[in-house]
Amino acid sequence: MQLPVPQHIAAIVPYPPGKPMDELEREYGVTNAIKLASNENPWGPSPKAVAAIGAMLHNLHRYPDGSSYSLTEAVAGWIGSEASEIVLGNGSNEVIEFLVKAFVGTGDAVITSHPSFLMYQKFVQVRGGENVVIPLKAMDHDLEAIAAAVTERTRLIFIDNPNNPTGTLIAKEAFDRFLAGLPQSVIVVVDEAYVDFVEPAQRIDILGYIQRPENIPAVVSLRTFSKAFGLAGLRVGFGVMHREVASLLHRVRQPFNVNLPAQAGALAALGDTDHYDRTLRGTAEGRSWLSEAVAKLGCVPYPSHTNFFLIDVKGDATKLYEAMLYKGVIVRSMKAYGYPDFIRITVGTAEENQRFVTALAECLQDLAYV
Ligand SMILES: Cc1ncc(COP(=O)(O)O)c(C=O)c1O
Repeated sequence: MQLPVPQHIAAIVPYPPGKPMDELEREYGVTNAIKLASNENPWGPSPKAVAAIGAMLHNLHRYPDGSSYSLTEAVAGWIGSEASEIVLGNGSNEVIEFLVKAFVGTGDAVITSHPSFLMYQKFVQVRGGENVVIPLKAMDHDLEAIAAAVTERTRLIFIDNPNNPTGTLIAKEAFDRFLAGLPQSVIVVVDEAYVDFVEPAQRIDILGYIQRPENIPAVVSLRTFSKAFGLAGLRVGFGVMHREVASLLHRVRQPFNVNLPAQAGALAALGDTDHYDRTLRGTAEGRSWLSEAVAKLGCVPYPSHTNFFLIDVKGDATKLYEAMLYKGVIVRSMKAYGYPDFIRITVGTAEENQRFVTALAECLQDLAYV
C-alpha cells in the first residue's frame, strides 16, 4: 500500500486530548479516578437537558432540523442578536473549522498565539495554510505583535479570550485599540469558550463590534455549551457574526451538523438558569478555595477568569502529572505548552478539589519539589 498523502497532512500531529478516566483506571489499576484536565463542568449536565434528550430519543429515525431553527432562535434571544447572526456547530470546534474552510486557502496566513487553544492551527494545517504564531507576552495575548504580523496574506486572527491555558483576559480598551489598528480585510475571531465565567463588567462587547462594523474588520465570537452548560459530550457550540459572514459559513457546513439530541439538549440547557448560575458560583468558590490550598503547599497559583488555572509546582510538571495518575487524579502538564514547571487544573466539585489537594501534597513531598 502506498498512500497518496499530501505533505501538509502527513505533518499534522494529532490533538492530545486529556486522558480519559476509564483508560487511567485500566492502565494504572486505580478506581474512582477524577479528571481535572479538560475544563469540563464537574457538576454534570443540566437535568432539564437530560430530560429533553430522553424525551426525543423515539425520534432518532428522523433527520434533525438542518437549520436548527428552535435552538438558533433561543441562542439569538440569549445573546441579544438576530438569528441570522448565529451559526451552530458540532462543538465550537466545528465553527472554527467552518471559518478556516470558508476563508483560508493554500498559502493563506492565519495568526494565533502560543500557547493558546491548539485546534486553530490544526485546521489551518489541514487547509495547507500558513500558521503565524505569536508568543504570549507575560501570559497575555501580545496584541501589538499580532497587529504587526498582519500582511496582505492574513485571512484570520484567532484570539481565545480568556486564553486557554493561562486564563488571562484582554482589557476592553486594549481590544478596541487593536481593532482600530487592523486592516479591514482580516477577520478577528474571539474564542469566548470561557466567557461565561468572566465577571460581566469585564467582558468585551463583541456583539457591538459585530453589529456596528464600520471602519473595523469583521469580528466573530465563538461560544460553547461544553463548559458552563455542562454538555461537552453532546457537542454543541456556536459563532456570533455578521450575517454576511454567517451566510458564507452555511455554505461550507453539512446540512445536519447539529444532531437531534444536541438540539434538544442545548435548548433545554439554555432554559435552565439554576444549573448555569450554580455552575458559575461553584466555579468561583472552588477556584479561590483551590488557589489558597495550593499556595499553602508552596506552589504558586495563577489568577484566572475561567474554570481552570495554572499552578507553578516548582519542579518538573510532567513527572508530577505522572505521579498524580497513580493517585487517580488527571491534570495537565504544561510542558508541551512551554511551561515545564506548570500544571493546569480544572476546578472540580468540593470533593474532587479536596482529593486533588491531598494527592498534590503527597506527590510534592514524594518528588521533593517544595
Ligand atoms: C479555548 C477553547 N475553545 C474551544 C474549545 C472547544 O470547545 P467545544 O467543545 O465547543 O468544541 C475549547 C475546549 O477545551 C477551548 O478550550
